[in-house]
Formats: sequence, structure tokens, C-alpha cells
Amino acid sequence: MNPLNHVAIIMDGNGRWGLKHKNSRNKGHKAGLHTLEKIIKESIKQKIRYLTLYAFSTENWRRPKKEINYLFKLLENFLLNKINELHGQNIKLKIIGVKNFSNKLNKLLKSSEKKTLKNTKLQINLALNYGSKFEILNAFNMINKNNDKINEKNLRKHLQTKNIPDPEILIRTGNTKRLSNFLLWQLAYTEIFFEKKLWPEFNEKNYINIIKKYKTIKRNFGKI
Ligand code: FPP
Repeated sequence: MNPLNHVAIIMDGNGRWGLKHKNSRNKGHKAGLHTLEKIIKESIKQKIRYLTLYAFSTENWRRPKKEINYLFKLLENFLLNKINELHGQNIKLKIIGVKNFSNKLNKLLKSSEKKTLKNTKLQINLALNYGSKFEILNAFNMINKNNDKINEKNLRKHLQTKNIPDPEILIRTGNTKRLSNFLLWQLAYTEIFFEKKLWPEFNEKNYINIIKKYKTIKRNFGKI
């Protein structure tokens, strides 16, 4: 059975679900947050060590301001209400991406990271204002600045996921088959699962089925 340490998820389909069921994209994001909470709980049950979640990409700034503001308010309230609970569950929160939000949100993100820094059960990497091409270019620039050799080891040192094993599983919900500038380096050998369901419809059972399927895959890493 394949070991499983790290699951990455592109939580796609909130907008479509919201429009279809509540006539509002934002209500889809709210429903998506409930799914997120369920998947965090199940990840702990499954003894997963790292969960990396794509919540806001560098390209998502192109959305209407009303939707962007709603998403960040949702995140702010989630952290204000739930960070103690996450901390109590020994969960570590790490933000990947560039923190260039309002002063208030930046501070809240930093204090949430600081509070949970030493936790060891599950590490949640929340990708916010994250773009993989930027991350990789930044790593090359850092190597250059330090006059280091360009090699895999040195590049990894400057990725936001340094010291974290690459994901064994990537899940993308929402019936779309693309990577959308997410973890392009780290996903080189990841098993990818595209789910038809929209993120608010995705549930623990779907998640467990993917994990079961993954565990039985023959992973060759180039060998035969
Ligand atoms: C993609 O669906 C989803 C997002 C851009 C936001 C993800 C946010 C959550 C799951 C809610 C939790 C919130 C935070 C900030 C932690 P989409 O809007 O692109 O859906 P569509 O493809 O149907 O338009």
C-alpha cells in the first residue's frame, strides 16, 4: 500500500454551485467553507500530515471586487471563530503565497500562523495569492542572489513548501482538468484525481474513495 503524507486540493466549483442552488456565487463560497471543514476533520482521521488547499490564486484578483471582498471576509471570520479550535486539535496553519492583503487580514494570518506554529498533527498549507510560476521564478532569483548552484536541492530550499514532502495526491473538483498554476514543481510525480462534483458537493465518502484508490496504484517513478 502506498504511503500517504500529503494531499493537495484545488477546491473548484463554488461559484457554479452557488449560482445554481442559491442564485449567488458568494453563497457557493460559504458552502465551500463547510466542505473544507469536513475535509480537514477527515484528513485527521486518515492520519494525513499535510493538506495544501488552493483558496486564492494570483489570477483570482481578476474577479469582481464584491466577490474578492466576500472571500476575504469569509476567511477572516473563519480564522477569528475557528483558530482556537484548530489550535486545540494540534493543527498547524501555514500560508503559502504572498501576504499582501489588508493590514487587518495580514496581521490575522500572521498571528494564526504564530499561534499554531508548533502544532504537529496536521499542517494546513493555505494557498492565498499563490502562483506557482512566481514561486519558481522567485526561487531561481534567490539562488542567483546567494550565488548558489542551480540544482534541485537549492531550488527546493526556496519554495514555499520547503521541508514538506511533495503531495502524493492532487484532487481537483468541479469537472475541470487543469492545474491552474498550482504547485507545478511539487506535482511532478503526484497522482491526480479529477472529480466531477463541485466543491460544495464533495464529501468525506468521495475523499475516502480517492484515498483508497490511491493506495492501490502501482507507483513506478520511472522504473518498471
Ligand atoms: C474556486 O471555485 C474556489 C475559490 C476561488 C475559492 C475557494 C474558497 C473556499 C473553498 C471557501 C473557503 C474560503 C477561504 C478563503 C478559506 P470557483 O469560484 O472558481 O468556482 P467556479 O469554477 O464554479 O466559478
